[in-house]
Amino acid sequence: METAKAIEIEKKKLKAVIFDLDGVITDSATYHYLAWKSLAAELGIPFDEQYNEKLKGVSRMESLELILQNGNAASKYTIQQKEALADKKNNLYKELIRQISPADILPGIAAFLQELKANQIKIALASVSKNAPFILHQLALDTMFDYVADAAAVPNAKPFPDIFLAGMQAFGLQPHNCIGVEDARTGIEAIHRAGMQAVGVGTPEEMEGAELVTTTGELRLAMVLERLGMEL
Ligand code: BG6
Ligand code: MG
Repeated sequence: METAKAIEIEKKKLKAVIFDLDGVITDSATYHYLAWKSLAAELGIPFDEQYNEKLKGVSRMESLELILQNGNAASKYTIQQKEALADKKNNLYKELIRQISPADILPGIAAFLQELKANQIKIALASVSKNAPFILHQLALDTMFDYVADAAAVPNAKPFPDIFLAGMQAFGLQPHNCIGVEDARTGIEAIHRAGMQAVGVGTPEEMEGAELVTTTGELRLAMVLERLGMEL
């Protein structure tokens, strides 16, 4: 006979939180936008914040392709010229992120990371940005992360799940014990394809499909566990 205990839904244990960087840990998404905007203006291609939403979580070369497509200019440049354009954007971006300091950690993030550490929950970074290690260093957060996925070593960028799976595998865990935190639709899709629950940082419209939509300032371990039906 089934007892009440036997039919109780078993809660999954939270053992790792895998974070996106740009737009979640710090507002570097704005610097990506400014650098692409400058390049697009130089190329005479329309570009605004709305179009920029499509680039969030997307790799550097794929972002360039999307911008060129928006100006019907995708076939106008050779591969070498496209690489030079991507380098130009990246050089400008690197100039902008030099000013990042610990004061630029988004509200609530430092406290949430501390809570995770205090509860022995592993912390990983799953950013497709090759500049991610530099930004973590600027934020003085290098030592908070137990694992930083190498964007250059991951075959497929978001929305493929590869980078979130790399974080999970580094700890030898299963998807149901991990969650991902993202600010981009492509990222939410990547988390889901990895078989994890997603925390979306942003508006409900932007973060459609995420199991929990919140702001960084509201991120607290107890709230996350409760809303995702998980436990320590
Ligand atoms: C992602 C950003 O984190 O990294 C994208 O959301 C960016 O906007 C991508 O294009 C790649 O970054 P980078 O620094 O390697 O050009
Ligand atoms: Mg992001």
